Amino acid sequence: MKKILVTSALPYANGPLHIGHIAGAYLPADIYTRYNKQKGNNVIHIGGTDEHGIAVTIKAEQENTTPKSIVDRYHKEIAEDFKRLKIDFDNFSRTSKDIHKEMSQDFFLRIYNKGLIEKREGEQLYCPHCKRFLADRYVEGECPYCHYENARGDQCEACGKWLEPTMLINPRCKICGTTPVVKKTYHWYFRLDKMQEQLEGWLDKKTTWKSNVKSFTKGWFKEGLRARAITRDIEWGVPVPLDEADGKVLYVWFDAPIGYISSTKEWAQKQGKPDLWKEYWYDKETKLVHFIGKDNIVFHAIVWPAMLMAYNDGIILPSEIPANEFLNIETKKISTSRNWAIWVHDFLDDFPADYLRYYLAANAPENSDMDFTWKDFQAKVNGELADILGNLVNRTYVFTKKYFGGVIPAPGDFDEDDKKIVKIIEDAPAEIGKLLDEFHVRQATFRLMNLAREGNRYFDYKKPWNLIKNDREKCGTTLYILSNLLNTIATLFAPILPDGMETVKKALHNDDFTWETASKFIIKPGTAFDNPGILYKKVEDKTIEKEEAKLMDDNKNKVEEKTENKDKPSYVTIDDVLKLGLKVAEVLEAEKVEKTDKLLKMKIKIGDEERQIIAGIAKEYTPEEMIGKKIVVVSNMKPAKIRGIESNGMLLAASNEDHLTLLTIDREIESGSSIK
Ligand code: MF3
Ligand code: ZN
Repeated sequence: MKKILVTSALPYANGPLHIGHIAGAYLPADIYTRYNKQKGNNVIHIGGTDEHGIAVTIKAEQENTTPKSIVDRYHKEIAEDFKRLKIDFDNFSRTSKDIHKEMSQDFFLRIYNKGLIEKREGEQLYCPHCKRFLADRYVEGECPYCHYENARGDQCEACGKWLEPTMLINPRCKICGTTPVVKKTYHWYFRLDKMQEQLEGWLDKKTTWKSNVKSFTKGWFKEGLRARAITRDIEWGVPVPLDEADGKVLYVWFDAPIGYISSTKEWAQKQGKPDLWKEYWYDKETKLVHFIGKDNIVFHAIVWPAMLMAYNDGIILPSEIPANEFLNIETKKISTSRNWAIWVHDFLDDFPADYLRYYLAANAPENSDMDFTWKDFQAKVNGELADILGNLVNRTYVFTKKYFGGVIPAPGDFDEDDKKIVKIIEDAPAEIGKLLDEFHVRQATFRLMNLAREGNRYFDYKKPWNLIKNDREKCGTTLYILSNLLNTIATLFAPILPDGMETVKKALHNDDFTWETASKFIIKPGTAFDNPGILYKKVEDKTIEKEEAKLMDDNKNKVEEKTENKDKPSYVTIDDVLKLGLKVAEVLEAEKVEKTDKLLKMKIKIGDEERQIIAGIAKEYTPEEMIGKKIVVVSNMKPAKIRGIESNGMLLAASNEDHLTLLTIDREIESGSSIK
């Protein structure tokens, strides 16, 4: 049987999931997997959290804790969010595990030994204030391509380009805001340039791939692939497995996709068949499908296949990369830093999982960015889930109960209208299946809801409440057909609406979810039809108003908090103060600088050392009164020339608009004493 290996982008374990993540990768992956399981295919959904990289270390620094405690916390939260949303994984691993470290190091070494990874001297941004190299997201600045102002050192969020920190215009250190300097360092580079031809040839054959992936990769090839640094100077990550690479770790985008393999390997171990993973990764017939959001395209369609090609031991390449566009919220781009986001856990505190799944499937950002709005969410839930699907289930149940004691009646002959429904039932699995095979979740959802629409139309047209009065058999036929239509809908809608459709199947006493049998009438006369309850409750106006207010408030609070932070002085440490070299100095000589009325030139003594300084105090102090005074100077001041005269230090004075007074020493102490 054909094997299907489904992956969804490993989410960074640096925060909880928002609905944009779900719409982009996880829901489509889950739907595709559930669908294929129902088809009886040999499919597994492999995932895990992406636990390395600067997304994690920055979060740890911000919260004054360790990367380990961050990833432990969010791995748990993310796994929990998926569980509540019924996004199922056959294995959900973590890239901080040993099994992943080993596999990543093996990947590196094998590619290295083929000469496709090599050590190079390069330039890197260094923050003189934080005293460290600024990798990836530790730098921000203007994007050289689209000129978005807050592009990150690794990637521009606005245009999706993969960047290097040194490419940024006006870079600044993310932590302290300082302008970094360029310093020489060495790293290991993956020779993507050598892989271009092979990659292009391979991608050319992917004629059915989505246009966003195709056009993105074409753009990259046109520019020409370049070797890219795949190591970093941070402490958190997979250590580079070479003796000379002291303290360096693999770039997160090098190790993360290997997580797809290490997670499959872990899955196999858990099955007690440690080699089972190879039956997927080393079988040319395996269909490898990577579900991702569009910001991950370059890594999955170029870098990752290049890594697999370079690894080249019979391992398979991606078969499909269904990449989705973005989900916006109320027309604005999701931003976690501004708290313009709807968190999955918050959502599920207020609504059932099926509601979110339905809305995101019906509005899947497949070909363009889509918009989530609370009002539209309410409209779709109430007008479609409740009024169309829920209503069809409810009225079929109620009439079966009322007229036939809750038992599916035996049908009589089928008329033309009945036969139309029969045809709809017969065709539905293949039709919906084709859409799902081709990753058209939005259209599939629309077609599925149409089945329920057809059912309601048929119901309204047949009018069982009239039929029961003069043609009981026909009434029975109608309800029999409707029950079977419900069963078909429940089976085919189950990948999208697992909870509600399970309720329907239970009510119909049928647990056969196989895709193909949904084309048949498998609900037999005499079967009890239990009360399914209200399948989908409507969402009230006041609930939506609350959600809208919360979104606005969270965003406002976050924006205010940010501006407050800006006004807050950034703290200095005692080391910063000591850096100034504040010292007591004694003035030995003083005279006015010619042709100026503000400047005094003085010779001062700091301990044993004599220096000359220039100070703008001549309007307030005469040279005579300065001589013999003990003053306070910044002794580490960079020497400067003022009016051509050298000044080697700076004296301290307090001033306001119309007055200035020197800082002097309160009690006797010798010059050169340090001030702290
Ligand atoms: N953590 C990445 C993101 O959220 C996705 C990693 S996908 C993987 O953008 F393939 F590298 F795992
Ligand atoms: Zn950009």
